[in-house]
Amino acid sequence: MGGARQASKSKWHDTRGWRFVPDTPQINGKHMNKTLSAAAILLSSLSGMAVAETDSARIDMGKALFTQGAEPSCSICHTLADAETMGEIGPNLDTMRPDYDRVMRALVNGVGPMTPYDSLTDEELDALSHYVASATKADNVEP
Ligand code: HEC
Repeated sequence: MGGARQASKSKWHDTRGWRFVPDTPQINGKHMNKTLSAAAILLSSLSGMAVAETDSARIDMGKALFTQGAEPSCSICHTLADAETMGEIGPNLDTMRPDYDRVMRALVNGVGPMTPYDSLTDEELDALSHYVASATKADNVEP
């Protein structure tokens, strides 16, 4: 899984610039399927194991979505140290430390120039919100 993810990541970076017109949904679709099925396998194999391990799968999924899976990628616009992104269009998330609900609200409703992420599933929205809140050590990292 690591190899596949690396390969599609560089492809992503080569073909995606700051102009994120949704002109190549098939690239996104292919990539998402890979990421998601890997995450699903991980999640199902972990069910019944310690909560901490299940949580790390959720964090991994959120991080993958943040850096590459979500379209447009959060990394274009936001700085987040844990994800090693340096976007400057939106607020610095390390400084803001948005809690779970605040991230979720931004993703579902959009805020200012940031458009809503309508195509993400509930599981993906949850993973992203949990990841951003956890990575910035927000006060509340759960719904
Ligand atoms: C096109 C650039 C862009 C992208 C892509 C983007 N954002 Fe934003 N985001 C912004 C801007 C700009 C704001 C500030 C909007 C405002 O305050 O009017 C913002 C605000 C936020 C906020 C704070 C909301 C609040 O309550 O003030 C969070 C949290 C956030 N974004 C998370 C994300 C996540 C997670 C992603 C990826 C799924 C993402 N953003 C993708 C531009 C972007």
